[in-house]
Amino acid sequence: MRFHSLEWQGAALRLLDQRLLPHQTVFVTCTTAIDVAEAIRNMTVRGAPAIGVAAAFGVVLAALAGADVARAAAMLRATRPTAVNLMWALDRMLAVVPQTPVALLAEAERLYAEDIAVNRQIGEHAQALIPDGAVAMHHCNTGALATVDYGTALGALRIAHESGKRIHVYLDETRPRLQGAGLSAYELNAFGVPHTLIVDSAAAHVMRTRKVDFCIVGCDRVAANGDVANKIGTYALALAAQAHNVPFYVACPLSTLDLSTPDGAAIDIEERAATEITHVAGQLICPAGTPVFNPAFDVTPAALVTAIITEKGIVRSPYSKGLRQVIEKLSAVV
Ligand code: MRU
Repeated sequence: MRFHSLEWQGAALRLLDQRLLPHQTVFVTCTTAIDVAEAIRNMTVRGAPAIGVAAAFGVVLAALAGADVARAAAMLRATRPTAVNLMWALDRMLAVVPQTPVALLAEAERLYAEDIAVNRQIGEHAQALIPDGAVAMHHCNTGALATVDYGTALGALRIAHESGKRIHVYLDETRPRLQGAGLSAYELNAFGVPHTLIVDSAAAHVMRTRKVDFCIVGCDRVAANGDVANKIGTYALALAAQAHNVPFYVACPLSTLDLSTPDGAAIDIEERAATEITHVAGQLICPAGTPVFNPAFDVTPAALVTAIITEKGIVRSPYSKGLRQVIEKLSAVV
């Protein structure tokens, strides 16, 4: 079963509108790079790997229209600052020679296919960390919807379930945009993976009072020292996990690893509109004009991360050395 989060349709990019899930399945058709940029900004498409691949097709649309490809790439790059997959995919597109629609489409299609393969590999490596009977806790949405298909952290849990392991997943609802409630619960329900939805602030209580064997999350950017930028609330979850001796795993495609960023302090954290916090389902939930701070991501220090699962294997501390080694493994294959 596939969700088709993004599909190239000849001369257009079709996106599954993630803002309307789980209640409505609506597809949005982007025919220009501007359409794709807007869809990334307004989170029609979201999740670090998915926005990287969507942006790549945005570049193809610019080339098909005879527009300036470098300018289109710069516009797409500016849509969301934290997920490095976006910059990585655009750099791959800009390195294509010649910059013709045919050559650019071939590269975008390679990125699309690679994403699925990489996610499967991450999921396979993760199996060593997921015993039969395990209870996991997960934050945000890192599944098929956040990628081309399968997903990273959620994909690993799906593979565990499909391989016959009896697992159970606690899903953080993930305020303010509710990716856990609206998207991860939707996916696990579709795949028949047993799960329980909790509010983000219940995570520590659940760890203390129930069985939780590990946390597993995705990432938007991992710095050279292993600091992890991911959806707001990940850091609090990692602190709770440390306090309860619960291992904290991060699923990280190497397209999300940014060795040029030395540590988490250097990661640009996106801030989003106040209305994401002040309104729920269109209803104002606080006094009008209440001041708001709405960081979309946070940084979990490497010291709180038990292991980083990549498509080239599992990396443990010291991350500076281990992450460099997996990148070398990757370059050895290419
Ligand atoms: O703001 P979002 O929904 O794009 O944030 C998504 C996340 O934080 C995910 O954990 C991350 O992108 C990894 S998705 C495989």
